[in-house]
Amino acid sequence: MRILVTGAAGFIGSNYVRYMLSKQPDAHVVALDKLTYAGNLANLAAFEGNPRFQFVQADICDPDAVGEALAGCDALVNFAAESHVDRSVIDPMAFVKTNVEGIRVLMEAARTHSVQRIVQVSTDEVYGHVPDGSVNEQTLLAPRNPYSASKAGGELLALSYFTSFGLPVMVTRGVNTIGPSQYPEKVVPVFVTNAIDDEQLPIYGEGKAVREYMYVTDHCTGIDLVLHRGEPGAVYNVGVEYEVDTVTLATSILELLEKPRSLMRLIEDRPGHDYRYSLDSARLEALGWQPKYTFPQALAETVNWYVENEDWWRAIKSGSFGEYYARNYAERLARSRPVAAG
Ligand code: NAD
Ligand code: DAU
Repeated sequence: MRILVTGAAGFIGSNYVRYMLSKQPDAHVVALDKLTYAGNLANLAAFEGNPRFQFVQADICDPDAVGEALAGCDALVNFAAESHVDRSVIDPMAFVKTNVEGIRVLMEAARTHSVQRIVQVSTDEVYGHVPDGSVNEQTLLAPRNPYSASKAGGELLALSYFTSFGLPVMVTRGVNTIGPSQYPEKVVPVFVTNAIDDEQLPIYGEGKAVREYMYVTDHCTGIDLVLHRGEPGAVYNVGVEYEVDTVTLATSILELLEKPRSLMRLIEDRPGHDYRYSLDSARLEALGWQPKYTFPQALAETVNWYVENEDWWRAIKSGSFGEYYARNYAERLARSRPVAAG
């Protein structure tokens, strides 16, 4: 199988490339990435020289580049996206461009080249806040921030190519994912790298927002199962049922690193914060998928990776990331409160 993996230099994309190349000996991977602030060639360095791997630097909004990369491919898995909610609140434009227009360009090229299997990687955030119970794939979409709204637009557009043109598109909606090489703007690497440096852990609101945290290889096996066995036109939730609030997450990270609770600080909340997501993943489980990592195992593996790969994240944190961090956190941390003992 020759497969185009877009967004391959990012967190989940690069882990997926590793999974494909190690588990599927007949897979040839064309890895495409624009290399935005979140794209990092270091994430793909291990595959350089592998005859089954090739890298193309390109924008998924560029029809010529996408068409050229897709020519001869049997399959497409799209990870490329602007992926961070806080940045979407600051500046939504890039989110609409990549997460919606980029999907149109990919789907048009997939039609032209008669690609046989296509997975659009989406997110549980398209359902919006889930106050109780769990949502399945029939639940109405109600995204509430520019990131999730753009992801909903992108996946609906992708699915429309199935109903309108018979393009074999499938969509996955995954929960919060953690593991090696996650850009240090997302909560787990923010907390882990700050804690290693004895810096404060900025917790939004009262720290009661709940997420399901899934290890990245479990997300990759779910996506891969959908790629090979999913039904064209169908949507698959990918979730793990471990619900963790932010104070509990921060506490667990501090315990693993043997750092004091006093590093936790409550700061002004994220605008439009979704306080809970919760997925019913029975449809994917019926295909034979089961996550391998419990939350404690996933978190321990992740913390360990950041401890052992300081060069990777220090190179990012010492660059332009500092400007974003100051803009998002400096004033809020100046007005922050401690977390009550408990
Ligand atoms: P990421 O930000 O780490 O990586 C995104 C990659 O896409 C980067 O390498 C970036 O350079 C590339 N990219 C951005 N715009 C591009 C463009 N116009 N053309 C080509 N490449 C472009 O994101 P991630 O966390 O790895 O997420 C990957 C996908 O999974 C996204 O679609 C995201 O919505 C989805 N997702 C993420 C999570 C999570 O918890 N991280 C959970 C569910 C779904
Ligand atoms: O749910 C899937 C989504 O998970 C993906 O689609 C997104 O690409 C990914 O970024 C992630 O979105 P979240 O907004 O849930 O992740 P984030 O790591 O930004 O935040 C997780 C929780 O932690 C959320 O309740 C907000 C809180 N948080 C986050 C940051 C960055 C904090 O309390 N402090 C922080 O500094």
